[in-house]
Amino acid sequence: MSIASIALPRILRIGGGASKQLPEVLASLGLSRPLIVTDAWLVSSGRVAELVDGLTAAGIASRVFADTVPDPTVASVDAGVACLREGDHDCVVGFGGGSPLDSAKAIALLGLHGGAMADYKAPHVQDAPGLPVIAIPTTAGTGSEATRFTIITDETTDEKMLCPGLAYLPVAALVDYELTFTKPVRLTADTGIDSLTHAIEAYVSKRANPFSDGMALLAMRAIAPNLRRVCRDPMDAAAREAMMLGATQAGIAFSNSSVALVHGMSRPIGAHFHVPHGLSNAMLLPAVTAWSAPAALHRYAECARAMGVADEAEGDQSAVARLLDELAALNRELEVPGPAAWGIDAARWDALVPTMCAQAAASGSPANNPRVPDAEEMATLYAQVWAGQPG
Ligand SMILES: [Fe+2]
Repeated sequence: MSIASIALPRILRIGGGASKQLPEVLASLGLSRPLIVTDAWLVSSGRVAELVDGLTAAGIASRVFADTVPDPTVASVDAGVACLREGDHDCVVGFGGGSPLDSAKAIALLGLHGGAMADYKAPHVQDAPGLPVIAIPTTAGTGSEATRFTIITDETTDEKMLCPGLAYLPVAALVDYELTFTKPVRLTADTGIDSLTHAIEAYVSKRANPFSDGMALLAMRAIAPNLRRVCRDPMDAAAREAMMLGATQAGIAFSNSSVALVHGMSRPIGAHFHVPHGLSNAMLLPAVTAWSAPAALHRYAECARAMGVADEAEGDQSAVARLLDELAALNRELEVPGPAAWGIDAARWDALVPTMCAQAAASGSPANNPRVPDAEEMATLYAQVWAGQPG
């Protein structure tokens, strides 16, 4: 008998306006001196001031670190740690998309334990907690608010370091879809595809279990019918709400199962070519799914059924064909470019493929895929993605 090891945020508040409950959530955790970790855009849009004002009104003094960067680097995290140590903080509030949330987790850990971020990358597992993290996502989403991972880029080697362990699991997550209405359409599409990828990978992973399966299927049911809707109409409240719920469910799913080959191959593309995370996932998803599906046909067919693109009576082979058609259609309709169209230089891509294969394998994610590629097969998949072939 195998035992699934499940871990969740102690507190989840989910629904429109949930972010306004930060003061009472802090109070319920006995916390009173937060550092808010966010980004410059959320400061300039006035969102951070709303959060700070809510805390001030409740008698809670806070400080703000807004210098996080997309694909957070070691240097940006170290600056946050320095800011944390200037104050007398008992917790870190991550406020923003995946980058501010991942930064908040790293800052909360290093602020207490010290050391360099590279000390904590996989295969190291950091369970002993840092300062408590409260996560308030503004995208739907990376799911970072519900996961036991952070991803920090070592800018000296262009490696996206996957850092796993319970230390990175937020103690509370406030999941408020009303924060997502102002997301630009590109970000809406990219983060939505990221969420869908989390759900699919959690479901087909070798580490899937009945708990993660349930969350993954719920996430696919929430995301698949609403992704196009939020891209067409950013003010569609019902669709935004479903996407936000689905993103958190997908985060719970993969945090308690794993991601797999798409994420393994996606991180090096992001690290070397600065392609946004959801976009590099989207570039890979059709080809990697086509290559992997024969090894887990029924699982992928169940994904197609949960997403509503195959009906329950349809055979697995046919359902998987519909899944592949849907993933290709999504990329077309959401205008996902290939690597060349995105502006990546062909010679540099070719030169880096061996490094990307090695970094993907070292992250451990490809080993969770239902079909595990060797270096040569992974290089072939990268070539297919470059050529825009479905695998
Ligand atoms: Fe992701």
